Amino acid sequence: MIEAPRHIIDVEQLREPELQAHLLERAAEFQAMAPADYPKPLQHRQVATLFYEPSTRTRLSFDTAAKRLGAGVPSTENAGEFSSAAKGETIEDTIMTIQGYVDAIVLRHKDDDSSERAAAVAGVPIINAGSGKAEHPTQALLDLFTIKQEMGQVEGLKIGMAGDLAHGRTVHSLVKLLRDFDGVQIIGVAPDCLAMPEEYRQPEDVYVDRLDEVIGEVDVLYMTRTQLERIDDEAVVAEFSKQADNFKLTNRRANRMKPTARILHPLPRVGEITKKVDKNPRARYFQQAHNGLFVRMALLEWVLEDAA
Ligand code: NCD
Repeated sequence: MIEAPRHIIDVEQLREPELQAHLLERAAEFQAMAPADYPKPLQHRQVATLFYEPSTRTRLSFDTAAKRLGAGVPSTENAGEFSSAAKGETIEDTIMTIQGYVDAIVLRHKDDDSSERAAAVAGVPIINAGSGKAEHPTQALLDLFTIKQEMGQVEGLKIGMAGDLAHGRTVHSLVKLLRDFDGVQIIGVAPDCLAMPEEYRQPEDVYVDRLDEVIGEVDVLYMTRTQLERIDDEAVVAEFSKQADNFKLTNRRANRMKPTARILHPLPRVGEITKKVDKNPRARYFQQAHNGLFVRMALLEWVLEDAA
């Protein structure tokens, strides 16, 4: 029997308790292993990385994760510019072609529905590495992994999310995952012009427009950058710039957080966390980025587990 490919299109799939528990446990196992001890279940497999948008962490961690597990990783430098997309090829045609060469495709694209469209024509797994402002499921899983590891548990946490809550796909995917844990409260910190869309809100959430209002209350502070490339309206950019200091995490502000609180950021940061905060014992964003490697190893291993 030929099974359907194990795509990872959105975070809904990663909410399934058994799968989520397996992936988080497996990521922790990889984290504890010496690289020389990694198994090589992806030997003879090829995992393409097809990125139409810039990336540092996601692409390099997927690339490294695949190679650590034995796979080859064919890739095109900046797919939007250097692949046939520059000649007008549709994403469907590109996927139809590449699937003939590889066993899985890691895709990042500016369109919200890009991964769905790719999966609709793909005979190999599509792994969404960021689709527009809608979804970044693998980032949400590594964020969850980091929160669990840093805080011991997710239940009952007050999770602050600050910055561009309107366009940040990492925030949109992460809030959906966090809803499954009892007593989690989201405390959104954003100017009105970059507020969290209704569809991601719950009645128990709190929304404010400056960090100072909630800095001493949150257990986790998830900072984000302003997604300038997704904002057409110059008035919004001007409005945000005027208020930017209200959302900036300085070390003075960080020191007002609970001693047990943790600061996360999907990165890249562009000024919303000052350099001094890096030495603050609450800062965990580089550890969070490292965790991406282990979570993506677990994901790739699962996605390709039963592939012929
Ligand atoms: C994020 C993304 O691409 O959505 N980066 C990442 O994958 N770690 C966040 C961002 O670009 O702001």
